[in-house]
Amino acid sequence: MDERTDRVRGEWDRAAAFYDRQERLQRLLLGRTRARLSARARGSVLEVAVGTGHNLAYYPDGVELTGVDLSAGMLGRARERASRLGLRVDLVEGDAQALGFADAAFDTVVCAMSLCVIPGQRRALTEMRRVLREGGSLLLVDHIEYTRRPFRGRESRKPRPRRLPRAVAEEVGFTVLEHGRVGFGLVEYVVARR
Ligand SMILES: C[S@@+](CC[C@H](N)C(=O)[O-])C[C@H]1O[C@@H](n2cnc3c(N)ncnc32)[C@H](O)[C@@H]1O
Repeated sequence: MDERTDRVRGEWDRAAAFYDRQERLQRLLLGRTRARLSARARGSVLEVAVGTGHNLAYYPDGVELTGVDLSAGMLGRARERASRLGLRVDLVEGDAQALGFADAAFDTVVCAMSLCVIPGQRRALTEMRRVLREGGSLLLVDHIEYTRRPFRGRESRKPRPRRLPRAVAEEVGFTVLEHGRVGFGLVEYVVARR
């Protein structure tokens, strides 16, 4: 694991105790986006950077769910949530940039509010594509670079402006079927096919 990813892991281990405090605020920002996207998951599902499991309550019955995250602290919280909800979820420690799963192992890959903190966004999306079967679905929702007025100019002057998840997903070979903005234009959701 590279130094930057290791630093990110430490940051999220420290944040684990507090992260759920922003759940209500996130709900205001995202509205029903988590519920709507998660409802589209089918079959064998991998949630990348599952965190404390904010999406867990929204998956349809019958999916076989695996969650992976860099931070043992965040996963500990996700385990508690899964147990409160009475869900069976396989929660494993791992790096989105080098997923420890076989090619084409999943029908659906989900990633929420996390590409913006993963140092190698392109590597992570390439890995998501590798572990998805042909025709499988990618469901993303993430913070994005602010491309509307009045902050458009400020974003473009940043040394490392954030990339649009949709654009990077297309670059690595996904076909984007749907996308849109929520949360005052600060968050983008994407439905894509491998
Ligand atoms: C903002 S939280 C989002 C958590 C959850 N997906 C949600 O929607 O609430 C970001 C998560 O990404 C995880 N993360 C950061 N870099 C990662 C990586 N390289 N591989 C896997 N998980 C990573 C962090 O540990 C943290 O749990």
